[in-house]
Amino acid sequence: MRTRNAVIMVGSALALLLSQAVFAEEGFFSWLGSFSREKEIAPVTDATYNKECGSCHFPFQPGLLPEASWRKLLDAKALSDHFGDNAELDDQTRQKILDVLVADSADKSYRKRSRKIMKSLGEGDAPLRITEIPYIKAKHSEIPENLVKGNPKVKGLSFCNKCHQKAADGVYDDDTVRIPGKS
Ligand code: HEC
Ligand code: HEC
Repeated sequence: MRTRNAVIMVGSALALLLSQAVFAEEGFFSWLGSFSREKEIAPVTDATYNKECGSCHFPFQPGLLPEASWRKLLDAKALSDHFGDNAELDDQTRQKILDVLVADSADKSYRKRSRKIMKSLGEGDAPLRITEIPYIKAKHSEIPENLVKGNPKVKGLSFCNKCHQKAADGVYDDDTVRIPGKS
């Protein structure tokens, strides 16, 4: 009987310790997350970036893709045929923009969305499109095509800010979404 009680006591002490360890870890991540509670993805403030990469579409935040993706996209040759468009830049500007993107890329960010993006990608994955990231794809899989590509007010899933009213601030939560033309 004594040994049994002792086993139970040791057992519950262990369980308590374990639950505290788990809590401590969650606490650590929510502490990290507290820096970003308001804005889910770090917004971009660099004027050169916003001007050069925001003329054909909304200037995507660095935290939406890992560094390796930005390096591929910002390659000089790649920019001359950027999804069928010419987005060439002089070397100095290109390097400046690459620095801005790399500094805040998804793999370096502790912000909630960036972490979810990285978690959904495989080791070493470097997609050229944000819209090809499994996490982003899954979040939009139920929206009918006629509200996205077939919607003249949106044109495609790449145009985040057409539906996400606060995309420019890096906010993508479902409270701030409104699909134009949707009744
Ligand atoms: C001359 C116009 C133009 C400029 C300038 C431009 N882009 Fe693009 N970009 C496009 C087009 C067109 C697409 C494809 C959109 C589509 O599929 O609907 C695209 C798509 C993208 C995508 C993929 C979006 C997705 O579907 O997930 C990224 C990332 C991107 N651009 C980054 C950049 C960056 C970074 C710069 C600045 C160096 C830049 N773009 C400058 C025209 C441009
Ligand atoms: C056609 C409109 C539309 C476009 C364009 C669009 N989204 Fe969305 N997005 C939505 C809707 C609607 C939801 C909410 C889905 C739901 O209710 O779960 C959503 C959800 C999300 C979520 C998850 C939000 C949450 O709280 O779980 C993220 C992140 C997101 N979008 C990012 C993006 C990014 C980045 C782009 C551009 C590359 C983009 N979206 C383009 C309509 C759009």
